[in-house]
Parts: sequence; structure tokens; C-alpha cells
Amino acid sequence: MKVGGQHFRTIWLKPGDECVIQLINQRFLPHRFVIEEIRTVKQMATAIREMHVRGAGLIGASAGYGMYLAAKEAAASGSFDEHLVHAARQLKATRPTAVNLSWAVDRQLKNIAGAKTADEKIAFALRTARLIAEEDSEQCRMIGQHGLKLIEQIAEKKPGKPLNVLTHCNAGWLAFVDYGSATSPIYAAHDRRLPVHVWVAETRPRNQGSKLTAWELSEHGVRHTVIADSAAGHLMQRGEVDLVIVGTDRTTHTGDVANKIGTYLKALAARDNNVPFYVALPSSSLDWSMRDGLKEIPIEERSAEEVRCVDGWLEGQQVEVRVTPEGSAAANYGFDVTPARLVTGLITERGVCEANDKSIRALFPEQAP
Ligand code: MRU
Repeated sequence: MKVGGQHFRTIWLKPGDECVIQLINQRFLPHRFVIEEIRTVKQMATAIREMHVRGAGLIGASAGYGMYLAAKEAAASGSFDEHLVHAARQLKATRPTAVNLSWAVDRQLKNIAGAKTADEKIAFALRTARLIAEEDSEQCRMIGQHGLKLIEQIAEKKPGKPLNVLTHCNAGWLAFVDYGSATSPIYAAHDRRLPVHVWVAETRPRNQGSKLTAWELSEHGVRHTVIADSAAGHLMQRGEVDLVIVGTDRTTHTGDVANKIGTYLKALAARDNNVPFYVALPSSSLDWSMRDGLKEIPIEERSAEEVRCVDGWLEGQQVEVRVTPEGSAAANYGFDVTPARLVTGLITERGVCEANDKSIRALFPEQAP
């Protein structure tokens, strides 16, 4: 997508130097656009854990490139398999909720095992890392095409009027390699000149909505308004939301959706107000092993400091200020699970389906029950 009119992806192999991965360090957005260079698997693990990169698809793509760096290191270490297994463990331990992480690492392990020499293993790992990134981008593009139809259906019912889509957190191109999941239909509608307007929920505690989603929509020229998280229900009651589209970090094959904390409350408000609530996801975010999202999906708990403090931009510097009394305890749950019954549908790269096992498997019949 565009940054200052120039096309960027979130992660790529440095042109002319196959030892370096370049990525947009999102901790500085929207105030500074910083490209970081990653040379080791340890640096990649830090980038994922500390959220220089984040979002399900991008975590998967970063892990894919991390495993490529690990293969290079393993070849130099003298004990290839041991080093690779250690790196896989290190990457998988960075963040628990997005299933794309283990999916990408396991895919790399399987492919690398199919090669014989160390050089061949490195080449396989690079090819797989590139493939994971390419597939992510293409799947998100297709999500846009399928989701666009939903927005067009609403547009037919209210010709010439603004189409109000509400989204939560950042399931935009910054959370993937390109296009995004929840934002991809929005970009497609905007590019078709439909009068789409986005309610961007700020998404405390880290504010990925007001920082990242607002920034990327601005860069692409999409009309949007940032709202406090708690304003979403009020807007729905007033008929000012036509459609909710959110992303997901892991969705069970039964349709339970783990996404950034606060998603569940938006789904409840949407149900109470008959607002369609869609979840956009590439199939890499589907977990085929879990049936019960509430019981089984691991929910990340992050530092309480993220709740106690907010950061922002002051006189050319990023500063952090505390917003709670000094002695107050705080808890920081990163994600929640929206039960399938509250989800109107899933927008995948293969089309839209209901949030249940039968409908999901009909789109992905190759997944054995
Ligand atoms: O904690 P993050 O920033 O990694 O959270 C991920 C998200 O941005 C959201 O949960 C998003 O809606 C789904 S990831 C495509």
C-alpha cells in the first residue's frame, strides 16, 4: 500500500543483500516512518515480541523470514538441526495468540527437512519465506474482492450516502504483508469510488487503531474518524454503522474468533443493533485443531505498564506519560474471544462463509476433519 504516494510492503528481503530483512518498525508510527534491518533470528524474535512488527499475517511472514535467517545461522554453526529447532522454539515463544506464527515456523521446518545439503536448506528456507509473504499478500487482495461485494450490496440500498464501516485495532496492511484483512474490502471500495467512511476504534491500551489504522487510511486517502472504543455501541444505536469488519489472530474451525481485546464488546453491540459483524482472515489464521475458542485459545497477557501509560508525540519526541494513580494495579489482556454465534460471516481468500465448521470446511475441503 502507499506511504507518501510510494508503494511499500511491511517486510522484504533487502535488495542486493540476502543477509538482511527489512521491515517497517511500527513502534514509531504514525509519527516517524522507520525501516529496520534484521540480520539474526534473535533480532527477529525481538522484533516480534516487542511489536516492531505485529498483526497475525505479518507475524507469520516475519517468522518465515526469521526461519530463513535461522537456516543461514544453522549452516554456519556446525549442528544444523539443533540450531534450527532452537530457533523455531525461540520464535514460537514470542507471542502466543496469533496462530500464523506457529503455522509459518512449522511450514518452514517441514520444507527445510525436505532438502539435503545446508546450501539447499537455506535456498528452500528463502523460497518458503518469500512464498509465505507472497501468499499473504495475494490472499489479502482476494479478501478485498470478496468483501467488496458486501459493501456494494449496502451501497445499493443507500445510493449516494456514506457507507460507514467500523473496525477495531489494526487489521490493515500493517498487520499483514500488504492490503490487510479487514481493510482490504475498504480499500477496494474506496478505489471503486464508493463513498466509504471508516469509524476507527482507538483500541486501548496500545492504540493500534488510532495510531496505525488511522495512519494507513490517511496515507491511502480513505475518509475516517477515530473514536474512543466505548463510542461504538452509541454509533450503532444511532444507525451510523452499516457494517463491522474486524480481523483475527486465530479463528477456530468452529468459527470462534480471537481478536484484539474489545472485539467481543463490539460484536455484542452489533448483535443488539442488527449490524452485520464480519471477520476478515486469510486461511493461515484458521486453527484446524481447536474446537472451543473460549477454552482453548491462549490469550496473551502483556505488561501492565501498557495500561498505566500512554505514549504520544511531543515537540518532536515520542514521550510516555502515566494516566493512572501511581499505586493502582492494572491488568492487560491482549485479546478476547468472540463466540461464533455473534459472527455474521467470515471473509476469506476463497469467499465468504458462515462461522461454523460445515461452512468453513466447504471452502477448505482439503482440510481433513
Ligand atoms: O497485538 P497486535 O497488534 O498484534 O494485535 C493484533 C491486531 O492488530 C488485531 O488483533 C487484529 O485485529 C488482528 S491481526 C490481523
